[in-house]
Amino acid sequence: MMVVATSSFVPYPGPAERLARKGLQALALLLAAGLLHTQASPSARSFQLDYEHNCFRKDGAPFRYISGSIHYARVPRPAWRDRLLKMYLSGLSTVQVYVPWNYHETLPGVYDFTGNRDVEAFLDLTAELGLLVILRPGPYICAEWEMGGLPAWLLWKPDMTLRTSDPAYLAAVDSWLHVLLPKIRPRLYQQGGNIISVQVENEYGSYYACDYGYLRHLLGSFRALLGSEVLLFTTDSAGAQELRCGTLQGLYATVDFGPGSNVTEAFGALRRVEPKGPLVNSEYYTGWLDYWGEAHASTSAAWVARGLEDMLQLGASINMQVVSWQRALLSGVYHRYMFHGGTNFAYWSGADYKDQYKPVTTSYDYDAPLSEAGDPTEKLFAIRTVISKFQPLPVGPMPPATPKYAYGWVALRKYADLLDVLDVLCPSGPIQSQFPLTFEALKQAYGFMVYHTQLPWDVPDPATLGAPPHSICDRGYVMLQKEYQGTLERDGQTTLHVTGRGGDTLDILLENMGRISFGANTSDFKGLLGNLSLNSRPLSNWQIYPLAIDTAVQQGWPQAALPKSSSAGRVGPAFYTGTFETPGIAWDTFVKFPGWSKGLLWINGFNLGRYWSRRGPQQTLFVPGSVLHVGRPNNITVLELEEAPPSPLLLFLDQPLYNRTLGRSTMATE
Ligand SMILES: *[C@@H]1O[C@H](CO)[C@@H](O)[C@H](O)[C@H]1NC(C)=O
Ligand SMILES: *[C@@H]1O[C@H](CO)[C@@H](O)[C@H](O)[C@H]1NC(C)=O
Ligand SMILES: *[C@@H]1O[C@H](CO)[C@@H](O)[C@H](O)[C@H]1NC(C)=O
Ligand SMILES: *[C@@H]1O[C@H](CO)[C@@H](O)[C@H](O)[C@H]1NC(C)=O
Ligand SMILES: *[C@@H]1O[C@H](CO)[C@@H](O)[C@H](O)[C@H]1NC(C)=O
Repeated sequence: MMVVATSSFVPYPGPAERLARKGLQALALLLAAGLLHTQASPSARSFQLDYEHNCFRKDGAPFRYISGSIHYARVPRPAWRDRLLKMYLSGLSTVQVYVPWNYHETLPGVYDFTGNRDVEAFLDLTAELGLLVILRPGPYICAEWEMGGLPAWLLWKPDMTLRTSDPAYLAAVDSWLHVLLPKIRPRLYQQGGNIISVQVENEYGSYYACDYGYLRHLLGSFRALLGSEVLLFTTDSAGAQELRCGTLQGLYATVDFGPGSNVTEAFGALRRVEPKGPLVNSEYYTGWLDYWGEAHASTSAAWVARGLEDMLQLGASINMQVVSWQRALLSGVYHRYMFHGGTNFAYWSGADYKDQYKPVTTSYDYDAPLSEAGDPTEKLFAIRTVISKFQPLPVGPMPPATPKYAYGWVALRKYADLLDVLDVLCPSGPIQSQFPLTFEALKQAYGFMVYHTQLPWDVPDPATLGAPPHSICDRGYVMLQKEYQGTLERDGQTTLHVTGRGGDTLDILLENMGRISFGANTSDFKGLLGNLSLNSRPLSNWQIYPLAIDTAVQQGWPQAALPKSSSAGRVGPAFYTGTFETPGIAWDTFVKFPGWSKGLLWINGFNLGRYWSRRGPQQTLFVPGSVLHVGRPNNITVLELEEAPPSPLLLFLDQPLYNRTLGRSTMATE
């Protein structure tokens, strides 16, 4: 049953033109719905808006969904079914799914839909389990994902204006949509599939451009490729400006807010742009993501359950999702939510920007109802209890937490300093350039590049090696004569003092920590964006090495390579290797980095993401059992960037350390 919050209806106060526009929109869709309704036979599959009764209608009957979000790109494929089954058993009827463009179109016109990127296999599983799907194919998704899901190669054209009607951007978007949406169309509800609605863009109202031409273009492309029947919608935070710039005639408007906000007010704001139709909270957030260097966040289960109950009593359709800080601040909420967050493996974590660059941690646990390792939490059971008050739960027990294994201590040994293996990591050799070039200029999307030059003169007294503001993106590990000198950091330390002789080698390893995924400006270029200078005189004559570390590691390096005689030093970027065996079954595990500083971990060639134990709060990385082998050694490769401990050991635990119990929460939960 849909209950309408009529008490929250506030007459639209904005420009009359907009009122007319939205009024026309409602009228147009109402007519369309009526038309479809009269033409449809009783057995026809339909999913529509009912403006008269303020609800959705599925096959003609009033319908409400309770959905949760899951990002297939953050969950190892072997675990997809398990996570979806647990969502189903929690009482969700629907899952909300983002499609990250950059995960699939790896280079312009080069597509990957294999393995973990097989979005169609994921959608098949949702259908098999009887779940409906709300699809959010972007092209921009935010999701705290690298560049909000936009491919870094868009920045190869540095003057491209993202998320606007810039023709170069639209051409890239259209060519992607022509590949993706034909895979989606047969899965639409009206075509016999389980996708009930499709979101266009994401929180566009929070983007500075406010370009209706762009939204109109997307609407046209989505309609052309998906047909006229599918329900297309937008999602924005409940602020007036966001709802003004993020909504468009022909796209049903929904809002996002968390349990701390005033439900009546938030839906009241929605009513101002969407006077009739179902009330939808597309992102109800009750968890919170972690940033490196900040306290671990958590939200109480009781608080989440209470907010959910309020909303269900209002009769709204909701989805449990994530947001970024601006949206949270605007709606007065400090909570975010995923039903199952997962992990930012490899280089996929994004970043936010608030006063400074804030990279997101590798874990995307989010304090969500299903933990990072896919286990039901107290919050899941609290939510399930609330849902059971409104609709029957599916039959069947919730699977218990899967076993985790503490494989214990594993000794590593140093393989080589990074600067000694550039021939392997950059087989095509360096690019010569008078002045530094960005990652994008050299078509390097993620990871690392080395900038190499020589001191142009003798520096007997300490001289300042420095970079202009905002030009170290995002961290630069400085080596003089291959000796580590320290780290330059975006919005942090941007100078070091060095001494040396003319001709001494100077190397800076630049690290991309993830492109900004939300905010006014997503053109987040990486690398050395300005001239490095010595006592204010710009250095020149660079040799730049784009590194293909993952290609090498996936091919078995360095285990398969000849041993390297390397310096015994512990500081500076270097590779460490080791092995461990799994007894019997390859259980999930969590690996801790005691005394290590910052770097990356691969096991059997799989990139498990960044660790940064020195900064925290995350202290362990999740290792899914599916990457481990039974009966033969598992090969570990660590790239430590700053300083390894005197005894290079890893510790495999049976539980994660997010500082959940030690950290203070970022918000008051009471
Ligand atoms: C929510 O907002 C409405 C309208 O502004 C107000 O009347 C109500 O008291 C608020 N509720 C709470 C719990 O703050
Ligand atoms: C976005 O950032 C890029 C690179 O810093 C800059 O060139 C561009 O002007 C910025 N755009 C806006 C709208 O701020
Ligand atoms: C680096 O310095 C050179 C010479 O002063 C200048 O031409 C160039 O624009 C500078 N590059 C950047 C990115 O500032
Ligand atoms: C680990 O490395 C060894 C040595 O190169 C290789 O023989 C073995 O196949 C690798 N094991 C796995 C699981 O990749
Ligand atoms: C997290 O816990 C570890 C271990 O107790 C501690 O060393 C670290 O400082 C904590 N980090 C944060 C950000 O609270």
